[in-house]
Amino acid sequence: MRLSYITSALIEERGFVILDRYQQERDPQEWLDLEYVDWKSSGETRFAPLASATGRIEADGFWSHDPPRADRDGVWVESQAKKAPNLVNRAKQPGANIGRCRVIELQPNSYSDAIYNLHQDDNNRLNPDGSGWIVRGYYNLSDDPDSYLLLRQDRYDPQTELRIRLVAGSQVIIDTQRLWHATWHAGTEPRYSLITSWESGPELDRYIASLGGHTDFDNPELDAEMISQAQERVNRKLAERAEAIAERKLDR
Ligand SMILES: [Fe+2]
Repeated sequence: MRLSYITSALIEERGFVILDRYQQERDPQEWLDLEYVDWKSSGETRFAPLASATGRIEADGFWSHDPPRADRDGVWVESQAKKAPNLVNRAKQPGANIGRCRVIELQPNSYSDAIYNLHQDDNNRLNPDGSGWIVRGYYNLSDDPDSYLLLRQDRYDPQTELRIRLVAGSQVIIDTQRLWHATWHAGTEPRYSLITSWESGPELDRYIASLGGHTDFDNPELDAEMISQAQERVNRKLAERAEAIAERKLDR
């Protein structure tokens, strides 16, 4: 139930909004100076927290803390924030409440890996009724023109897949609790992205409008045969995993 949350009309339309490209090349590569922690999340990843639940360098969801709390009122990690003033400014620019804010490093993977990793986030756990629905900014930092952020309405249906090219400075805000998402990183070097949880509301709407927010774009084509083979493989793998989990439960 999310009837009582404040949402953004543009994000509601399709579950995401694309913003004007940021001129990433003008900024120093601050993300290379940050401290990373190993954190498995949809592939071979490491996280560099900029704002966390505690202000410490840790990547856990805010609801895993004691006391558990919603993904909002993130505390800046001072040692990190001072190394990355441009990234912090970009997170603060909307003026919306910020929860988790971190740079994610992802090692190259395959299309099959990516669609196996498709998942929905849990951004609104404990988010109080009447407040803004938590959505997330995905800002690509490295230049990865052959890589895509994959978004699906239906986890198992490639027809619903949108592919957003991860060129440097690409900026998308996504309702990652609604859309299945994962990154297909076809490069040879790690890919870096700034991911920020923001609260929907008038501040975020104004920010989206000021950066030309839109939901129409040309969805890049992929080879249909490659997609269907990968989907079959992943369906098989997911079915096997579900079976293994069910068997473990019966054993207990
Ligand atoms: Fe996610």
